[in-house]
Amino acid sequence: MSYPNFEKKQDANALYPGFISADESLGMESAEDVALARKLQLQHNNQYRTQAALDIGAGDVAVKAEGCYWWDVNGVKHLDFIGSVGPALLGLNNPFVIEKVKKYLDSHLITMDPLMLHQTTSAFSHNMSLITPYLSRTVLCCGGAEANETLLKMVRLAAYRTKKNKTRMLSTNNAFHGKTQATVNLGGKDKWRMWQGPDLPGYCHVPYGDWKAAEEEMKKGDIIAFFCEPIQGEGGINVPPDDYLPKMRELCTKYDVYFCLDEVQAGSCRTGYLWAHQYYGDKAQPDALSFAKAMSGSLVPTGGVLASEELYMAAYGNDETAFFHTATYQDNQISGITALACLEFMIEADVPGTIRANAPYFFDDLRKIQAKYPNVIKDVRGRGYMIGLEYGQNKNGDYYTVEVCKHMSVVGHVSTMFTINNDAVCRIYPNYWATKEDFDWALRALDEACAYVLETMGE
Ligand SMILES: Cc1ncc(COP(=O)(O)O)c(C=O)c1O
Repeated sequence: MSYPNFEKKQDANALYPGFISADESLGMESAEDVALARKLQLQHNNQYRTQAALDIGAGDVAVKAEGCYWWDVNGVKHLDFIGSVGPALLGLNNPFVIEKVKKYLDSHLITMDPLMLHQTTSAFSHNMSLITPYLSRTVLCCGGAEANETLLKMVRLAAYRTKKNKTRMLSTNNAFHGKTQATVNLGGKDKWRMWQGPDLPGYCHVPYGDWKAAEEEMKKGDIIAFFCEPIQGEGGINVPPDDYLPKMRELCTKYDVYFCLDEVQAGSCRTGYLWAHQYYGDKAQPDALSFAKAMSGSLVPTGGVLASEELYMAAYGNDETAFFHTATYQDNQISGITALACLEFMIEADVPGTIRANAPYFFDDLRKIQAKYPNVIKDVRGRGYMIGLEYGQNKNGDYYTVEVCKHMSVVGHVSTMFTINNDAVCRIYPNYWATKEDFDWALRALDEACAYVLETMGE
């Protein structure tokens, strides 16, 4: 059967004067439209977050976006070197992914029904187990915080059966794992727990990179799981010492603790490896990992957990527990086809290899700019396309971070962004399509911004 023509029975705008139709919202392209969009967002959404983005020269309306560029309403071309804060690693509006999503929509399958079999999500999960053979089970969801919630619940349920006297989760200072109730407690920044009342019990933190401190906590015998990011993102692009993750793997095995990696930001090829922990070969294989961001293609919210057979079965391996963690959108096929297409693109376009080949050129030249402005840029760090610049302060104690970021955006037309757990650090996240010319564009904008802040803010 096909649908009969849609019969318009009443006019939404006549009924609710000012009602904006779907077509009208998609056609907001003039300067007036942009002003309206800004007004509406300030009025009806998160006003102060919107204002904060406007303050650093972001928060514009993109009328078109492709590869690593977007165009504003005046036709000005901008270089996107923040990638929607991670998701756009495969490029803005990647045509390969869009084609698969369109094909899916044209196929008229059922997207949401939780009881149906799902061709796309089961294929994606199967592929994941081929690529990450030590993690055979996938639980899908719609974002990074939800993925970590899923994982927290999984290890608690599993521990209830297999590690009876254990109650606490161990995480790292300055970590960021999302902003739900449990994940702000798992995260290592007090700021995100303010005004929430007492902290949830059962979470503790040790310095990132310090395996001895982690071992001291584990010796107490009540740690269920150790959570950490392979490279801390929001904490300031902190790359741990090379022996840290392999050592944590060993300690987790020794003390019977689940080793859980939050690969939401560093994973999905960002660091030049499909999973950031694969940088260590087979020495840092987790019992589970969470993913999101770049596996969404910056198109459809997607996230999930990959878990070992043993962990997953300890949590959900019988008829009763099978229903403990279900959700309407969990296995939705629009996220499924998106993630599947992203994964296929990552492999067939050799996204990790491309990043490993190109990143050294950019890092080298960033370090040359650091050498030119040593008081402005204190450090250049990261791996692959996960890059952080740590800024210094002038004699009044003001960090150069925001002003550099703003100048790069407003004058240089290069989008970057600071990290939310570390005021000193700004990140630069190129995407797969970036060329040498694009890297040079960003380097020029950074050079000019550093000269500008020295002139205006002083040393
Ligand atoms: C490491 C890490 N985990 C979890 C999250 C939360 O993801 P989401 O914003 O999709 O909830 C983020 C977001 O920046 C992240 O960087």
